[in-house]
Amino acid sequence: MKRITIAIDGHSSCGKSTMAKDLARTIGYIYIDSGAMYRCCTLYALRHGLIDAHGRINETELERRINTLQVGFAYDAGRNISLCTLNGDTVEGLIRTMEVSAHVSPIAALPFVRRAMTAQQQAMGREGGIVMDGRDIGTAVFPNAELKVFVTASDEIRAQRRYDELRAKGEECDFDSVLANLRERDRIDSTRAVAPLRRADDALILDNSHLTIEEQKQWLLDRYAERIAD
Ligand code: CDP
Repeated sequence: MKRITIAIDGHSSCGKSTMAKDLARTIGYIYIDSGAMYRCCTLYALRHGLIDAHGRINETELERRINTLQVGFAYDAGRNISLCTLNGDTVEGLIRTMEVSAHVSPIAALPFVRRAMTAQQQAMGREGGIVMDGRDIGTAVFPNAELKVFVTASDEIRAQRRYDELRAKGEECDFDSVLANLRERDRIDSTRAVAPLRRADDALILDNSHLTIEEQKQWLLDRYAERIAD
């Protein structure tokens, strides 16, 4: 059977990765969380003092080093999850913090960061058989993807989901900061000059505000089955 490319884009914290991951597991495709890659660049910049206390980025130095950043995904068979790695070190937990979330969108707006990550993403998807989620997968990374989905949900519902996720991991946070962060990221992501967050003209829209995880999983599986049958 033909192994297609599936692009899932949408706003922050709308459950894209949950559905993308589930689909990939069910149909035996590779799953790539492209947001994790921008989070890795941000973690690197924070760790190496390339973002100052006012949030200013040392762009010259980050650009000089960007091609030394290799993001990967290591499969943990015991837990049946894939863990993000940066230059070989597992950084999965470290990239999901509010601190990284607070700086990731300005980093992801830098054209040289996008060029480097887009090249890595396209290399990962060269053979097809991939589900990738992000902001620009259907528009810039894989404009020829056979199945494109644009996911959204109301701001408050998305913030509640992210807040619950962070609290479950033991991170101290308050609901209003989570809501403000996702609105600000959506604003920056949608208005940047290079590869802004927008729905590809040929993407199907899914508003999952009132869907359970099982319902959205089934919806996506049905859309996949339709594409494969075409
Ligand atoms: O988990 P959440 O949906 O909140 O975000 P994410 O998918 O981890 O992405 C983190 C950030 O990376 C986004 O807010 C964007 O600024 C950036 N990003 C991007 O610019 N392009 C992508 N393809 C994926 C993420």
